[in-house]
Amino acid sequence: MKKLIGPFTQILPLSGLAMKGALKDEDLQIIPYGGVLIENGLIVKADSFEKLYKENLSTQIEEIEGNHVLLPGFVDCHTHMCFAGSRAKDYAMRIQGKSYLEIAKAGGGIWDSVTQTREADEQLLEELLLKRVNRHLSEGVTTMEIKSGYGLETQSELKQLRAIAAVSKQTKASLVPTCLAAHMVPKDFSGTQAEYLSYVFNDLLPVIKHENLANRVDIFIEESAFSAENATVYLNRAKQMGFELTVHADQFSTDGSAVAVKLGAVSADHLEASKDSEIKMLANSETVAVVLPGASLGLGMQYAPARKLLDGGACVAIASDWNPGSAPMGDLLLQAAVMSAAEKLNTAEVFAGLTYRAAKALNLNDRGILVTGMQADMQAYPTNDYREILYQQGKLRPQIIE
Ligand code: NIG
Ligand code: FE
Repeated sequence: MKKLIGPFTQILPLSGLAMKGALKDEDLQIIPYGGVLIENGLIVKADSFEKLYKENLSTQIEEIEGNHVLLPGFVDCHTHMCFAGSRAKDYAMRIQGKSYLEIAKAGGGIWDSVTQTREADEQLLEELLLKRVNRHLSEGVTTMEIKSGYGLETQSELKQLRAIAAVSKQTKASLVPTCLAAHMVPKDFSGTQAEYLSYVFNDLLPVIKHENLANRVDIFIEESAFSAENATVYLNRAKQMGFELTVHADQFSTDGSAVAVKLGAVSADHLEASKDSEIKMLANSETVAVVLPGASLGLGMQYAPARKLLDGGACVAIASDWNPGSAPMGDLLLQAAVMSAAEKLNTAEVFAGLTYRAAKALNLNDRGILVTGMQADMQAYPTNDYREILYQQGKLRPQIIE
């Protein structure tokens, strides 16, 4: 059934903006006193509320009281929200100045979350994930990608992916699963990096395909994880099997983004260590550059060069990286707002990075802007001025409109 929702003080449909490169706030279209006509979860039209009202007199109306600014729901295109346990111990050590290696030696790091996640049964994993998903949704994130990668052996990886599939049926948020079995070589695997990747390819990926648990594969390319050479072999094979590719790239050292671009990955994520040559390469490609301010905040590291990436012409998306280690906060809007002040990203660039550009990183072209035919994933902020949203650095909270 058709429904007219409004009036909203301002609607920012984020339409007519470029997919790649720098944007200007002056190019943001604003529909004052706007309304949205929806049917079957899709947008029929976003326009002046009065005009839509006159054109659709017999339509059901959902009235919005008070001042509100309407935006497309956010798309968080990079998270590791499916985990059990805590790494507060890591964080306490980190802020005492301990190094990554010292923390790992003291039993911390990714391996600690693997141990804690393996110990949890699927039921517990589901409960923990559902809570995080619904918290994220209440903060305006209507689509979220979720990686495995804390199982690192077939059954535990499947447990994570099945938990994501189960939670998907219990929430209104839209979940996009990704297999990150190539997060690190697990400590209990007795073989080489290449052998572990072969094991994942032969033992796990066919089951994922068969059960339709994910159509994306990710890998962490880093000195402490996988080499560019081994990753290339693995990603090529996964691609041939029909998986879309994404890469954890250039977090501490460069190499990953080149692999991502060469193999036509949908995105290269992190990029804190990217230099001019990587920026140029990403800008000249169709691979989305995903920056993760939550990881910079959690690790006390520099931000990815988002400004330079945009000025170079890249498609830049902003994601939370929500995970128990480097990015425990999981507050996408706060992270994006704080980064925008440091990196000098304007409102249009931040909103684009949280919506339609992030949707591109997930290969989704049905959301992220509020125009006819798109999914009616929307959020309304209690304010009369869209600029308040970043200004309040995450303290202004939305309500989901559906
Ligand atoms: O994206 N960089 C690798 N993986 C995660 C961290 C995972 C963890 O520390 O548990 C990230 O930051
Ligand atoms: Fe990550």
